[in-house]
Amino acid sequence: MNKSYYITTPIYYPSGKLHIGHTYTTVAADTMSRYKKLMGYDVFFLTGTDEHGQKIQEKAETMKLTPKEYVDEIVKDIQELWKLMDIDYDHFIRTTDSDHEESVKKIFTTLYENGDIYKSYYEGWYCTPCEAFWTESQLVDEKCPDCGREVKQEKEEAYFFKMSKYADRLIKHIEENPDFIQPESRKNEMLNNFLLPGLQDLCVSRTTFDWGIPVEFDPGHVVYVWIDALSNYVTALGYLNSRPQLMEKFWPADVHLIGKDILRFHTIYWPIMLMALDLPLPKQIFGHGWILLKGGKMSKSKGNVIDPVTLAQKYGVDALRYYVLREMPFGSDGIYNEDALVNRINSDLANDLGNLLSRTVSMTEKYFAGVIPKEKVGESLDNEIIALAMSTPGEVEKYLDKLEFSNALNHIWKLIARSNKYIDETSPWILGKDLEKQSRLAGVLYNLTEVLRIIGVMIYPFMPSTSRKLMEQINVSVDLMSWESISTFGGYPEGVKVTKGEQLFPRIEIKVEEVKEPEKKLEKKKAKNPKIQEEITIDDFAKVELKTGEIISVEVHPDADKLLVLKIQLGDEVRQIVSGIAKYYTSQDLVGKKVVVVCNLKPVNLRGIESQGMILAASNKKELNLITIDGEISSGNIVS
Ligand code: MSP
Repeated sequence: MNKSYYITTPIYYPSGKLHIGHTYTTVAADTMSRYKKLMGYDVFFLTGTDEHGQKIQEKAETMKLTPKEYVDEIVKDIQELWKLMDIDYDHFIRTTDSDHEESVKKIFTTLYENGDIYKSYYEGWYCTPCEAFWTESQLVDEKCPDCGREVKQEKEEAYFFKMSKYADRLIKHIEENPDFIQPESRKNEMLNNFLLPGLQDLCVSRTTFDWGIPVEFDPGHVVYVWIDALSNYVTALGYLNSRPQLMEKFWPADVHLIGKDILRFHTIYWPIMLMALDLPLPKQIFGHGWILLKGGKMSKSKGNVIDPVTLAQKYGVDALRYYVLREMPFGSDGIYNEDALVNRINSDLANDLGNLLSRTVSMTEKYFAGVIPKEKVGESLDNEIIALAMSTPGEVEKYLDKLEFSNALNHIWKLIARSNKYIDETSPWILGKDLEKQSRLAGVLYNLTEVLRIIGVMIYPFMPSTSRKLMEQINVSVDLMSWESISTFGGYPEGVKVTKGEQLFPRIEIKVEEVKEPEKKLEKKKAKNPKIQEEITIDDFAKVELKTGEIISVEVHPDADKLLVLKIQLGDEVRQIVSGIAKYYTSQDLVGKKVVVVCNLKPVNLRGIESQGMILAASNKKELNLITIDGEISSGNIVS
């Protein structure tokens, strides 16, 4: 029997549009689910909506709708969003589903009959947006300590859960199971701020509104929304209801993915409920960080929420999925920044991944009409790239199992960078000119296509549609994709024809003015202060690192005809330099020339392509001549 894996997201409040923060958790869960499926696990990936409570009832009233009419509309939008974001969940639970309601009633009654719940009076403070009870001493400046909003004084008859009865057992469990609350810092927060000071009994029913699941034996009460919501993780598996019975197979959950703000509910109330029901505790609760804006939190009231639909339409779903998982370490807070998103697209996706695929497929079409003969490998360069291709899936596995998405992607991109470097080192365009080197050329292209197949499998959990497009161009059936299939090198089938398709990620145009801005500033500065061009000392000059470099390849910049993208060998290293010399030189003139390279210039992005240095030239405005080396000195030597 296959191993099982159960992952959940929080169930979202349908109290308005979801923003990029919600998308973050769901994309992360989808990535884990797809990865585990590739590993051969039977996966159950659950998401859904948390539809009861005072907040929803009040919102519906303001819109003159019944709560159900109100939530039905928003739930549709949420399901549309997940479809757009390529979220492949196994079940979408709504807390208004009759199966769920049936179980929650039974759960509440069981807890009552077991003596864990008793009836009394609640007098204290309530934060409606958080649906959370607070005592006077817990308030901060008389406001909710979680969200800082107004709280209301409530006094009502209510049922209470004897939380303290289970506190010692929970503390012991947390201490004995270091992976139970992750990241580590969150565990200490829960222990020190809530558990060790002593737990208060929790108010678990309400009587001042009726949008909730009625208490079976006392229908004037509705079940507290968090008891209702947390139960979803087992009611979706058929616990105490007539849904397909999956408890045995999937419970306890492998991981509940949640944001750090709802840790208290998941690491204290939920485990105590489970103990009282005599069910095992989830293996892990992972509280990830928040996506923040420069000015702080996103908030609907400030009107500064980032809409994932707009972003996905502007930049593409996979680019957005990639950005959220790559840019921010999962446990920590991160700041959303659209420039960083564009940068990731242009550099990691268009330049690194996109170019690797398009160069490999184009050369295969050019030299072998799309079908690579399978040739034996054997050169040391090949062994190096093969070893990296074989060790990368293990690294990705190691990091994904710790939910370190950014580190996992970083390792995949190291392989992509190494593969691009392998193209420069093996120079297939030079091999292509020599009839005796056809078999070497085939070997190089085979290695590259095989590495692309391995990359295609590894990026599938993160960017499923990009992975499909990549596999289509190299003609590998997606049905054959599995983690197992990338455990050995050489699985790319013989006799298969590759076909160049569309660019995986078209570059996003960065306005030229932006690039020229620093130059303009410098000119203005010079005009104001002519001394700026005064003499410099030898020490100043020595700061400029000049080296000999050999031009090994030349391409016209895809988005600017005046620019050429040069690959320049500098000893062991290959640099990419974008240079405005297209008017004066052709590719044929340049390949093989030895030029002088300024090596320690800060890299800049020129129309979406990174330029890692500059080559020297003399110019009289009409003509331009490159400064070249006229002797035998090889590349990588110092020019002084
Ligand atoms: N309904 C409850 C969850 C019940 S689970 C049994 C809830 N819903 S929510 O819609 O308000 O929030 C859902 C999740 O979104 C939470 O995990 C929260 O941390 C997350 N996020 C909300 N804003 C966020 C960011 N800006 N960044 C990252 N995640 C954030 O709470």
